[in-house]
Amino acid sequence: MKFVASDQSCLTWSGDCLVVGLSEESLPLTGLLSDLNERVSGLLQELIDEADFKAKAGSSAVIRVGGEVRKLAIVGLGAAEELKLEGLRRAAAAAAKLAKREKCASLGISFPIWNNSPERTTQTIAEGITLAMHEDKRFKSDTEAPKVVLSDVALLDLSGYDDALDTAAHVCDGVILARELVAAPPNVVTPASLAETATNIASEYGLTLKILEKAECEEFGMGAYLGVAMASEMPPKFIHLTYTPKDTPKRKLALIGKGLTFDSGGLNIKAGAGSMIELMKMDMGGAAAVLGAAKAIAQIKPDVEVHFISAATENMISGHAMHPGDILTASNGKTIEVNNTDAEGRLTLADALVYADKLGVDAMVDLATLTGACIVALGNDLAGLFSPNDELAGALNQAAEAAGEKLWRMPMEEKYFDGLKSIVADMKNTGPRPGGSITASLFLKQFVKDTAWAHLDIAGPVWSEKDNAYNNPGATGYGVRTLVQWIMDSSN
Ligand code: BES
Ligand code: MN
Ligand code: ZN
Repeated sequence: MKFVASDQSCLTWSGDCLVVGLSEESLPLTGLLSDLNERVSGLLQELIDEADFKAKAGSSAVIRVGGEVRKLAIVGLGAAEELKLEGLRRAAAAAAKLAKREKCASLGISFPIWNNSPERTTQTIAEGITLAMHEDKRFKSDTEAPKVVLSDVALLDLSGYDDALDTAAHVCDGVILARELVAAPPNVVTPASLAETATNIASEYGLTLKILEKAECEEFGMGAYLGVAMASEMPPKFIHLTYTPKDTPKRKLALIGKGLTFDSGGLNIKAGAGSMIELMKMDMGGAAAVLGAAKAIAQIKPDVEVHFISAATENMISGHAMHPGDILTASNGKTIEVNNTDAEGRLTLADALVYADKLGVDAMVDLATLTGACIVALGNDLAGLFSPNDELAGALNQAAEAAGEKLWRMPMEEKYFDGLKSIVADMKNTGPRPGGSITASLFLKQFVKDTAWAHLDIAGPVWSEKDNAYNNPGATGYGVRTLVQWIMDSSN
């Protein structure tokens, strides 16, 4: 798919499908829109009347024009003052899906400028279209290509904003990588293949990469991470990818992703209906988001140093498996009584956080499909945001808003740490069921010493069974857009 930021307007563009974004205020038609109506011999007004089109967000209608413009479509943007970037992104996705349904190869898109920012408007439209058109057919045997594919998209009246198109392409590259990593089954995406993905990003874009093998992790004393890895036939891979800007970095940041390429639960095996064991390939969604962000950042090249980290492994069962009741020692010396082997993500993150904390970065964020409890609390659309640091939490909230990814700040109620008290060790890895996502975050906090830190529990939004505007059912690539936005914000 090729995008152009075009100097054509809806009055001059010609092609298969012209889509006009209409806010409620743009009715009745005036100015440019009434000129367009004239250009198409009144068919725009006819379409509005026939469809009883009120420009409600999410509504759309299409009519055949013929000639220079084969099809004319309108998509509703709702009330102008309520239009957010996310509304624009969804409307752009709707426009692309409509053009595809109408078998159009070229699409001209005429949307109002959002918030006086043609850059942001351009980036957001391109994101919505690219992400909506992404389909993952890697594991289907029937690969017959459709006769007509949407190949050319012109963003009308937005000439000169090619940089914003590039940014969108880089961001979407990252989101799509994350989606494809999460969607791939656990016999394809393994700790070694995640390390290979990191290797490819490093060599393609000139990032530095360090993979710590098991022996090196032992030297670091990463007993919590290695405890989880014990039962797997696949060797653990501790991934540390670094992007260093050409100029002196304005800030140094670290992203840490939970990288369980499969979570069986271990000896506390995920059993019975609702355990979702068959979906536990997505337990590396944090690592996928971090690698996706790496791919985007490596291309966008902001003046920020960024570390991308994942302690990748599987959580399996065998004669070597950790026992419920084992006591593990993490790399900061803290001892953990494993009262539940299915609370494995926090064990791997413990050592990854200790490692990242020592890098001397200004802030670090971990992303993890950490708890079913977070899904119970917030449902499938929102991630939980946990942070002792108000400033960092605020910055992430703001980034997520612009990125169109939903999150909600959760309390880190210190008293709940009582639930993790152990008779024999410094702490247990699992507390009582109520407040399970909160105790998980309090557990992680034990492994952060100096660095401003936030934790995103993405167990809900990493995967969606629903068809959303720019997300076909399945892996969402959640987190990449927020992370990239946050890093870009940090470079200002
Ligand atoms: N990977 C799971 C969390 C999860 C559950 C992610 C459902 C996505 C969908 C995690 O390792 C886990 O098993 N957590 C347990 C923790 C419990 C044993 C304290 C959970 O949430 O049940
Ligand atoms: Mn688990
Ligand atoms: Zn898990």
